[in-house]
Amino acid sequence: MIYHLLFLLLCLPSLGSPVAAASFRDLCNSFQPSTPNSTVELVEFIPRNTSVDLNYRDVTCGGPGKSAPVGQDLCRIALNIKTSNRSKIHLEAWLPEDWNGRFLATGNGGISGCIDYASLAYTTEHGFAAVGSNNGHNGTTGKAFYRNLDVVADFAGRALHTSVTIGKQITNTFYGKPHQKSYFLGCSQGGRQGVGSAEKYPTDFDGIVAGAPALDFNNLISWRASFYPVTGLANSTGFIKNTTWSDMIHDEVLKQCDTIDGVKDGIIEYPDLCKFRSETLQCKNGRTEDCLDSLQVQVVRKVLSPLAYENGTIIYSAMNPGSEGRAIDRLYAGKSFSDSQDWFRYVIYDDPDWDPSGFTTKDAAASELANPFDIRTFPSDLTTFNSTQSKLLVYHGGQDQQITSLNTERWYEHLKHGMNATATELDSFTRFFRISGMGHCSGGPGANMVGQSNQKGVPYEPQSNVLAAIVDWVENGNAPQTIEGTKFVNDNATEGIHFKRKHCRYPLRNTYKPYSSAAGFISVDSKERQVSSVEDWKCV
Ligand SMILES: *[C@@H]1O[C@H](CO)[C@@H](O)[C@H](O)[C@H]1NC(C)=O
Ligand SMILES: *[C@@H]1O[C@H](CO)[C@@H](O)[C@H](O)[C@H]1NC(C)=O
Ligand SMILES: *[C@@H]1O[C@H](CO)[C@@H](O)[C@H](O)[C@H]1NC(C)=O
Ligand SMILES: *[C@@H]1O[C@H](CO)[C@@H](O)[C@H](O)[C@H]1NC(C)=O
Ligand SMILES: *[C@@H]1O[C@H](CO)[C@@H](O)[C@H](O)[C@H]1NC(C)=O
Ligand SMILES: *[C@@H]1O[C@H](CO)[C@@H](O)[C@H](O)[C@H]1NC(C)=O
Ligand SMILES: *[C@@H]1O[C@H](CO)[C@@H](O)[C@H](O)[C@H]1NC(C)=O
Ligand SMILES: *[C@@H]1O[C@H](CO)[C@@H](O)[C@H](O)[C@H]1NC(C)=O
Ligand SMILES: *[C@@H]1O[C@H](CO)[C@@H](O)[C@H](O)[C@H]1NC(C)=O
Ligand SMILES: *[C@@H]1O[C@H](CO)[C@@H](O)[C@H](O)[C@H]1NC(C)=O
Repeated sequence: MIYHLLFLLLCLPSLGSPVAAASFRDLCNSFQPSTPNSTVELVEFIPRNTSVDLNYRDVTCGGPGKSAPVGQDLCRIALNIKTSNRSKIHLEAWLPEDWNGRFLATGNGGISGCIDYASLAYTTEHGFAAVGSNNGHNGTTGKAFYRNLDVVADFAGRALHTSVTIGKQITNTFYGKPHQKSYFLGCSQGGRQGVGSAEKYPTDFDGIVAGAPALDFNNLISWRASFYPVTGLANSTGFIKNTTWSDMIHDEVLKQCDTIDGVKDGIIEYPDLCKFRSETLQCKNGRTEDCLDSLQVQVVRKVLSPLAYENGTIIYSAMNPGSEGRAIDRLYAGKSFSDSQDWFRYVIYDDPDWDPSGFTTKDAAASELANPFDIRTFPSDLTTFNSTQSKLLVYHGGQDQQITSLNTERWYEHLKHGMNATATELDSFTRFFRISGMGHCSGGPGANMVGQSNQKGVPYEPQSNVLAAIVDWVENGNAPQTIEGTKFVNDNATEGIHFKRKHCRYPLRNTYKPYSSAAGFISVDSKERQVSSVEDWKCV
């Protein structure tokens, strides 16, 4: 109602000159999305450089607050869409005035129903008409799954597909013309959503960027649940303290594995080459300080080994060595991993009292068997996706503390085998970049900024930005050869660039040689780590 009045008032001055188009603000305020099964919550104009009010954001998603300032004038639309008589998704569409003709959907994280506002701001700044949804429930817990399989169905894939269908309709109606190309950008659960979309809805996107994907989801849930019974409670005897992990154990991991790549820089370029032996940390010759007892040595070995059934069949790949300093926040913290706990309680066992400290491989088998709505996401064939000329860019950090990058290597090999293709053949539509020294989706000692989210200081160019890269690949046929990552001083762009490194596509490996200068390392930083030049690495 108010919008209509506003529209009339704002339109009055232009009545005399029919040529003058209604302003973008007017267009926005008068826009009425007429999508099926949905109720419109808000339609509002957001001027460039202002922040978006997130009044209704769930407290576990960060609560009410403000988004980052948006990069250009845009129209914000929020609606609820029914997906069954007991489920609905909350969708936001951000439609920029200076539209580049492209549609984009953003992903989610963990088991959460939190809209990725940072990615909405990032992608609309570059002209995409972008949507984000709560994936079918609000907040970060899994309680909404309890005795409601429709909420699980939304989470497994229906919410994203519905968001894309409705989001494209809204986009095309709003601008009065169809979008040209369609993209996806997500990390973690978002990475799984991206690969899952290529598998199940191969025509939804022309280009997908899937970061640190939560692939083989049922087994990922089990892998994450498996740490707590191994580490024990934080107050139990012999519990390995967080500082022991981040100092003593991490130092020993680096001692054994950092220089396999030829550079002592705190970055294990290829975690698959690191065969860590925890025995070297065992107390001996009467030493009791700065060492581990034999039980602790076994804990470390278990934590850094693949999760397997008693018969040796691998359930999930081993943790990334080198991620110790970050894994202490959750997986090594001596408490239950909440996502896994909720999944077992509310989805697998229908039992809110299920005790996560008793997790065994029997639970892993139950999770894998349940596979609700085929949420697994471990495709061995993406022929249909490829046949529509669509492209998939996968990246994964090598020091990921939440989803091991070794699992993404396992998936790549699985896909290669399933499609009976060589890596060169897969390169025609799927490329996987291993980002050395990147933590879970961001952070870490490596050149971890690759345009995966809003990043000041990273050029929006195909050679250094995954979003620009997928667009260039889809629209111009320029497939990315490498992605040049940027490491900022203290991970803060305003403090300047620390170093850059080009990341190779799997299975190529970055090898160090002083190619550019006989001198080799360009400097040693404040922590005595060698800083190498981007030219001194080559993919071979
Ligand atoms: C937006 O903010 C930037 C940086 O603060 C400034 O350079 C620019 O002029 C502002 N644009 C508008 C339209 O206010
Ligand atoms: C999620 O939150 C939005 C915004 O407050 C609300 O409109 C919607 O009804 C909520 N959805 C559910 C399933 O509670
Ligand atoms: C509306 O939702 C119902 C399920 O609640 C579904 O069967 C129907 O197809 C939906 N209508 C449209 C036009 O999507
Ligand atoms: C919801 O729909 C299902 C069938 O899809 C039906 O069995 C059930 O009774 C309905 N529930 C309500 C509350 O209408
Ligand atoms: C250890 O912590 C758990 C849960 O935090 C608590 O229930 C238990 O009482 C604690 N045990 C001791 C010995 O403090
Ligand atoms: C380590 O654990 C202690 C509690 O045992 C906590 O106070 C501290 O904040 C933790 N440090 C880090 C870096 O996580
Ligand atoms: C190992 O055990 C798992 C779980 O019981 C089973 O699914 C799998 O088929 C077994 N593998 C072999 C090689 O027997
Ligand atoms: C796999 O590819 C190779 C080489 O192209 C071919 O010789 C072989 O027949 C293929 N195998 C299957 C099972 O399609
Ligand atoms: C993907 O499709 C292209 C044709 O567009 C084809 O040349 C290529 O062999 C396909 N790749 C695989 C791995 O099937
Ligand atoms: C980044 O560096 C600038 C300049 O030193 C400083 O003002 C700012 O607070 C830093 N930001 C963060 C998040 O630390």
